[in-house]
Amino acid sequence: MKDIKEITEAVRTEAKVIDQYIKRDLAALKPDLDSLLCKVLEYGLLDGGKRIRPLLVVLSARLCGNREEETYKLACAFEYLHAATLFHDDIIDNSAVRRGKPSVHEKFGTVAAILAGDFLHALAMEIVGRYCGSDGLNIFCNATRGMVDGEFMQLRNADKHNLSELDYHDAIMGKTGLLIAAACEVGAIYGGGNEAHVAALRTYGVNLGCAFQIIDDLLDYQGDPKLTGKAVGNDFSEGKMTLPLILTMNNAEEGDKSQLLTLLENRKNIDDSFDQVYTLITHYDGFEKAKSKAVAAIDNAHSALSGFKEKNTLAEKTILEGLARYVLIRKK
Ligand code: IPE
Ligand code: IPE
Ligand code: MG
Ligand code: MG
Repeated sequence: MKDIKEITEAVRTEAKVIDQYIKRDLAALKPDLDSLLCKVLEYGLLDGGKRIRPLLVVLSARLCGNREEETYKLACAFEYLHAATLFHDDIIDNSAVRRGKPSVHEKFGTVAAILAGDFLHALAMEIVGRYCGSDGLNIFCNATRGMVDGEFMQLRNADKHNLSELDYHDAIMGKTGLLIAAACEVGAIYGGGNEAHVAALRTYGVNLGCAFQIIDDLLDYQGDPKLTGKAVGNDFSEGKMTLPLILTMNNAEEGDKSQLLTLLENRKNIDDSFDQVYTLITHYDGFEKAKSKAVAAIDNAHSALSGFKEKNTLAEKTILEGLARYVLIRKK
């Protein structure tokens, strides 16, 4: 088993390769693009981003035996869709900062952010169709539909402060789990994996994706903005019921529960409402309990890989296992 430093190094090296492919795509598109659109794409796509989704495409394809360079071109589609959802998500969530700088809508305005997101969405579909045909597109579009479902669920629940763990699970599955699962599944199909391989990588992706979002939601409370590149407390100020808060609400004594409700309802008017909520979550071990759900999902992700035993793909398996551990300890 490799240590986490080696894994993060391997991930960083691959991310640099993916960056090169994205730059190549942008250079090829540039002559036909509106100059503002071009600026928005360069700003939103380059200089930042962990490139987890394209990396998963590449590793999944390799785990199934395909080591061709072409895989990177397919992989970029997953970064394009991801970036598109971030452009739109920052409008939806009123987030002014992303990847340590003003978010795309903050810098270029809402219209440019929406349109550039649509452009990237179309580009991503075109690429998946080219490399993976209708099977790939079905998986890809299903993930996009799931994402919209997840966001609508969030909207529907915006004023509800009594969400269950199941509601939360459904929302993160749609918002994040399905796209990460799709990256693994499409990579596996492109890589020539058999039915069992494809299903295993999909299960790995679903679990990794859900853990990834749980950790993201923890970082929204506990992260260092210098590392995450995002503001702390945005979920709370948007009234989002994420797992630490849900678990606290479900365990709190009546008095604490009504205090939480008051803080949530008056969050814009009470100066230290975030600090008070943070203290209550800590008191009820909400952060630890949420983390243990992420650990359980990562255990499932890990187990899903147990069927891959071929000697020549052990390196990829090790990196995917390492990536799963990295998700739990990531600070950005
Ligand atoms: C952010 O994704 C959105 C979530 C699904 C939590 P990442 O944390 O992968 O963002 P970048 O691409 O590295 O900036
Ligand atoms: C992101 O969820 C889900 C998407 C569909 C992009 P978040 O809203 O928690 O992601 P961040 O925290 O803004 O990156
Ligand atoms: Mg957001
Ligand atoms: Mg978040």
